[in-house]
Amino acid sequence: MKKISVIGAGAIGAMFGGLIKRHNPNLEVVMIARGDHLAAMQDRGTVELRGDWGKYDVPVTASSEPSAITGSDLVLFTVKTQDTAATAERFAESIGDAVVVSLQNGINQRILSKFLRPDRLLVGMTATNMGIIAPGVIDCTRRGVSVIGAASADVPAEIVDHAAQTLSSSGLPVEASDSILGVQYNKLLFNTMGYASVLSATDFLRDGIFNRTWRTSVAMPILDEGFRVLEAAGIPLQKASGGSDVIRLRRLMRMLAVPGLDNVVRMIARGPLAPPRLVFSVYQDLLRGRPTEIEFVNGEIARLANECGVNAPYNAEVVRMVHEMERSTEKKFMSREEVAEHFRSLRRD
Ligand SMILES: NC(=O)c1ccc[n+]([C@@H]2O[C@H](COP(=O)([O-])OP(=O)(O)OC[C@H]3O[C@@H](n4cnc5c(N)ncnc54)[C@H](OP(=O)(O)O)[C@@H]3O)[C@@H](O)[C@H]2O)c1
Repeated sequence: MKKISVIGAGAIGAMFGGLIKRHNPNLEVVMIARGDHLAAMQDRGTVELRGDWGKYDVPVTASSEPSAITGSDLVLFTVKTQDTAATAERFAESIGDAVVVSLQNGINQRILSKFLRPDRLLVGMTATNMGIIAPGVIDCTRRGVSVIGAASADVPAEIVDHAAQTLSSSGLPVEASDSILGVQYNKLLFNTMGYASVLSATDFLRDGIFNRTWRTSVAMPILDEGFRVLEAAGIPLQKASGGSDVIRLRRLMRMLAVPGLDNVVRMIARGPLAPPRLVFSVYQDLLRGRPTEIEFVNGEIARLANECGVNAPYNAEVVRMVHEMERSTEKKFMSREEVAEHFRSLRRD
């Protein structure tokens, strides 16, 4: 492998691409980006990566032009889901025969396969947490597991293994799966609850899942609905390694109904073993007045439900409420209790 390109070298893409370059200095790594973030990487000729390792300044080539990625062996595709179609169309010719790995949220293979070679298309999910904290500077706050797999049966297994090895050379944990769709939906269901926590700017674990009212009125109805819809659609969920597995999380949430356990959990949530703050990108997008990925997460469950002739009122309501916030000029979040009461009223309707 000689050349890797990242299309949409924002938080996830620039971190993976930059760490791969850091550990494979002879590899050419091209970052496709735009705006101030692109300008900062071009001016300095590096991307700054922060994490539990401290700070790395990694030399990279940065561009916005499709011609810059010509001749790539591997392309990481990491634009926000709403930008997938336009970006894939613009870069398809320059991607050529490269293996493409999408690490986006949502089920993007439907869109990508319209533009890219099906026998070279891999998709996946990442349970890491990254953010652009300043132009050209990416921060890794959570080293979660990433899982990739073939988007279709056309992809030879050795291509998946090779891509997983390349991504693992970033130093971040990466696994290959032969049931990637079930893994993607696992992460998608996790995010359906996470995106609902954004309605009240609630920290998902500490103040959300570990709070009985929010958990039973908002998180569990949304997750149970997601399980029902996937079952109706005949989509089997696949277990995911790491802390974002919804099969385990659902079991945990049910266990927390045992009297007394809640108090123990609340103490843990406030103590030194408290889980790290989980910020969902929908929150940042709303604050910046940008479109969110809500249609591709809660909207995906609502869409599937519609297709199968079942109801998904909770996910549909999250989509409606987030769209309302996208349109509003005043960035005002509800309180956690208001959201919980609103979701309880849906149950009564
Ligand atoms: N960040 C996380 O921790 C995390 C965790 C799990 C999953 N994900 C998923 O990973 C995907 C990427 O998320 P992210 O947080 O890395 O997003 P991001 O920081 O917004 O990165 C995407 C980058 O692509 C750029 N871009 C979009 N279209 C482009 C084009 N045509 N040409 C050049 N640059 C273009 C964007 O520029 P603009 O800013 O100008 O649009 C942005 O800098 C999403 O699906 C997200 O849900 C993210």
